[in-house]
Amino acid sequence: MIFIDQLDISGKKLLFRVDFNVPLDGTVITDDNRIRANVPTFRYALEKGAAVIVCAHLGKPKGQVKPELSLKPAADRLAELLGVPVELAPDCVGPEVESMAAKLQAGQVMMLENLRFHKEEQGKTEADRGDFGKQLAALADIYVNDAFGVAHRANASVVDVPRFAKQSCAGFLLKKEWEFLGEALEKPNRPYVAVSGGAKVSSKLGILNNLLGKVDDIIIGGAMANTFIAAQGHNVGKSLYEADLIEDAKAIMAKAEEKGSKLHLPVDFLYAKSIEDTAAAGECAAEAIPGDAVVLDIGPKSIEQFNQVIGAAKTVMWNGPMGFFEKPAFAEGSLALCRRMAGIDGALTIVGGGDTDAVVHQAHLADKFSFISTGGGSFLEFLEGKELPAFKALKESFK
Ligand code: 3PG
Repeated sequence: MIFIDQLDISGKKLLFRVDFNVPLDGTVITDDNRIRANVPTFRYALEKGAAVIVCAHLGKPKGQVKPELSLKPAADRLAELLGVPVELAPDCVGPEVESMAAKLQAGQVMMLENLRFHKEEQGKTEADRGDFGKQLAALADIYVNDAFGVAHRANASVVDVPRFAKQSCAGFLLKKEWEFLGEALEKPNRPYVAVSGGAKVSSKLGILNNLLGKVDDIIIGGAMANTFIAAQGHNVGKSLYEADLIEDAKAIMAKAEEKGSKLHLPVDFLYAKSIEDTAAAGECAAEAIPGDAVVLDIGPKSIEQFNQVIGAAKTVMWNGPMGFFEKPAFAEGSLALCRRMAGIDGALTIVGGGDTDAVVHQAHLADKFSFISTGGGSFLEFLEGKELPAFKALKESFK
């Protein structure tokens, strides 16, 4: 990889691809972590005397101009964080944008409007994407990819721009993600514990398969644990589980044994009578889930056992909550593990995925983790061991 600090950027125009796909309530950004995460790269570029052009997407406008998905709130937030004006262009390509970019001076920042207002950005084939990437590349001297969150999307701004840009590199955020996640996958300190939760085994199959053999312990919680409990032959009552993945769950359990990764499943649960309930109806053992119960969190014995494993770890990789954490009555499993991870001395603790990030923030423990990935889908695909299109495109552009 070539990183921004390896190039002479002084007096150059830089086109940054970032992921400002942030949650909005109307025009108010409710979580600006993704924008903050890019600030160090922007600061560096401005201090080195570069002119900064920022491009990003927001939501899924699917090639339509949707005023409610304008990047104006993100441009305003970035201006506040950088302490310099950030002018939002009315579009991301075309004569007006070209003229604005041409006039941009060193130390100035402009932002392009939502890339996904153009259907070419997400065209499936090169022909569908046309020369959109080429037009974007022509706005600047150097392309800087600093968008880990969208690294798994073969979009024009991710895979085509580096083909046409005079020079390309990765920014500090992409570098940080690549190093932290890469280190955990390639040369982790041991014991290495993966904590995997969330609703579906289907969305985690790739990760589980890739991590088995690499991790010493793998803790499984959330509704995906129910599929494993069912695979062990127990009744899961009315709880969410994936009947069609029972064989896959059995295969994962067998593979864990064979590869020497210890798989830990919940031994007890908090349950309700319906997913709509806001209070637990009781606790039950994993092999005695009542027929009319919906399990919504791991129980106290599971918390204790999981926390013992976590407490001994030197590397922890966490993705996915342990229960229905959005409801306070079923948040304790996720919060208790979060507190334990935050309290381990000298361990590398990595968190990824929107829900898990939300748990860490709900617990006010974000600053106690080694690294919180800005990736959702990209984080999962990286852990699956896939080569992400953004990295592939950058590497090819260096040849
Ligand atoms: C994300 O929010 O995970 C990224 O910005 C990618 O968004 P997408 O899933 O709409 O492509």
